[in-house]
Amino acid sequence: MKRTHNNGELSLKNVGEEVVLVGWVSKKRNLGSLVFIDLRDRSGIVQVTVREGLEIPDVRNEYVIQVYGTIAKKDVPNKNLKTGDIEVIASKIVLVNKADVTPMIIADETDALEDTRLKYRYLDLRRPVIQKYLMTRAKIVQAVHEYLDNNGFIEVETPTLTLSTPEGARDYLVPSRVHQGSFYALPQSPQIFKQLLMIGGFERYYQVARCYRDEDLRADRQPEFTQIDIEMSFMDQDQVLTMTEGLIANIFKKTLNLDIELPLRRLPYDEAVAKYGSDKPDTRFGFIINDIKDVVKDIDFGAFKNAYVKAVVIDNYAKETSRKDIDNVALEMKKFNLPGILSLKYVDNELQGSIAKFFSEEDKANLIKALSLKDNDLVYIASSNNYHDVSFGLGALRSMYAKKLDLIKPNTYDLLWVVNFPLFERREDGSITSSHHPFTRPNDDQIKYLDSDPTKVYSQAYDIVINGYEAGGGSLRIYERDLQQKIFEVLGLTKEDIARKFGFFIDAFKYGTPPHAGLAFGLDRLAMIIGGTDNIRDVIAFPKNLGASCPMSGAPNIVDQAQLDDLGIEIKK
Ligand code: AMO
Repeated sequence: MKRTHNNGELSLKNVGEEVVLVGWVSKKRNLGSLVFIDLRDRSGIVQVTVREGLEIPDVRNEYVIQVYGTIAKKDVPNKNLKTGDIEVIASKIVLVNKADVTPMIIADETDALEDTRLKYRYLDLRRPVIQKYLMTRAKIVQAVHEYLDNNGFIEVETPTLTLSTPEGARDYLVPSRVHQGSFYALPQSPQIFKQLLMIGGFERYYQVARCYRDEDLRADRQPEFTQIDIEMSFMDQDQVLTMTEGLIANIFKKTLNLDIELPLRRLPYDEAVAKYGSDKPDTRFGFIINDIKDVVKDIDFGAFKNAYVKAVVIDNYAKETSRKDIDNVALEMKKFNLPGILSLKYVDNELQGSIAKFFSEEDKANLIKALSLKDNDLVYIASSNNYHDVSFGLGALRSMYAKKLDLIKPNTYDLLWVVNFPLFERREDGSITSSHHPFTRPNDDQIKYLDSDPTKVYSQAYDIVINGYEAGGGSLRIYERDLQQKIFEVLGLTKEDIARKFGFFIDAFKYGTPPHAGLAFGLDRLAMIIGGTDNIRDVIAFPKNLGASCPMSGAPNIVDQAQLDDLGIEIKK
C-alpha cells in the first residue's frame, strides 16, 4: 500500500511536498466548506484539510483511509499536536476499510471502564498512551539484550511445562493427558533451571522469561508476568551488583536518556525497615521513622509498656490538620494492625493532643529534642509489641503523607539496593519460610545458627528498589549439596519431600557446582516505572484483570467434556 511518510513525523520541513499517508480517522469536523480530518497512525496524528469542491468518500471515526495531498504551513499552528505547524491539503481520499462505532473513545483521555478497555483491548491499544508504554517496554528489552550480549551473557530458554519452582506463590498447574493424574506446573521463575545452567557450565545466562504465579493481584502484580532473568558464576556479591548496575544504567540511558549515578546506595534490610518501615523504601521524601522507646520509657501509659514505640514527624503541618484528618489516618492505620495510633501537635511551644497529659515537662522536652520538633510540626506515635506492625504501619503512613502533600516530583528516580535480608520469615502459625527462596545463600558466619535460631540467620540476598517498587531481586546461591539439603530440612521438608520435589536438583550439586549468583528484574515493573504509570496492566499488551481473567478472550473458561475425559479429570460440583 502506497505510503510516503509517517503522520507524526511531518513538520515544517515537509512543506510543499506531495505525500501519501495512511491511518485511522481519529476525528472529523465538518465546517461546511471545509472538512478537517485528524489522521492517526502509530507515529502520531496529522490534520488533513479537505477544501470545498473535492469529492471524498463518507469517512467516520476509525475508518481506515489513504490520503493523497500536499503539506502546507498552517496559518494558526495547533499547539496541541506535534505536527500542529502544518496540515495536509488533500487531493484524494481513498476509503480502505469501514469501522463500526467503537465502544470506547480512542484517545489518551478515556472514561471507559477498565473492563471495557480490556474487553476491546485491540481498540485500547490504538490509544497513543498505551502504544507509548509498549514501545518503552520494547526499548527496555532492547537495552537488556545490548548490555548482556556485550557482557558475555548467553540467552537460553528454559521449559514452561515443568515442576513447581518455590517462589512462595501457588502454582498454575497443567494436567498431563499422557500421564493421567500428573501435572506440570508453570514456572514461578526459571530459578532452578538457571542454576542448572550454571552447573551446566554456561557461566553467564539470561532470559526474558515468562513467569506464572497464582497470588492475590495488585496494581503491580499479574498472574503472568515477565522477568529479565540473570545468573552468573564465579562472581561475588559486589561483582554481581556492579554488573547489574551497569545494566540498569544502560536501560535508563536508552529509554529516558538519563544518566544514573553509580554505584547505587546499599541499604541493609534492618535499616530500611527501621527508618522507612519498608523493605522497598521510597527515599525521595523524608518522614523518617524514629524509635522513641527510650524517650517514653517512664511514661505511665499502658500502650507504651513492653512495646515498640516509634514516631513520624510531618513537618509544618499541625495547624493544617483537623480532627477529622487525624481520625481518617487512625482508620487507615487499623488496616496495618495499628488501631491505637496517637497524634500530637507542636504549636506555640506547646505539645497538644490527648496523650500530652501523660507526659511530664521533662518527657515533653525529651520528645521535642529527640524528634527535633519545630513549630507547627505534627507527630504520629505508634506502639505495638509487634515490631513488624509498628514499622510497616508507619511506613505506610509515610507514603500516605507523601502522596497527600504531593511531595513526589514526577520523572524523578530513586534507585537503591536493599541488602542483607533475613534468610527466613516466620509465618503467623509460627512455621518458617524462606524470605526469598530456598536457594539463597546464608551469610557464612551465621550458618551455625541454622539449628538453634534460624531467624537469626541473614542472607546474601539483594533487591533493587526503584521509587518504592521492588523492581528486582536475587541472591548468591548455595552451591554445596549438604547446605542445600540442610536448608530444606530447616524449612520443614521431609527427606521424601526433598527427594520428590528437588531430588534431581540436589543430585546435580554432586558434580562440581560452581559458586553462582543472580537476580531477576520484573520487566513489567520496570516498564511501569520508566513509562510513568502505576498500573501494571498499562504495560502488558493483553493483561488479566484483577480477577485474573481476560475480559476479551474470556479466559479462563470451561472446556469440552471430551477434553476432561482425555485428561481423566472430573469437576467437583
Ligand atoms: P522474585 O520472586 O523476587 O525473585 O521476583 C523477581 C521480580 O519479579 C517481579 N515480580 C512480579 N512482577 C509482576 N507480577 C508478579 N506477580 C510478580 N512477582 C514478582 C518483581 C520481582 O522483584 N527467582 C528469583 C530471582 C533470583 O533469585 O534470581 C525471583 O523470582 O519485580
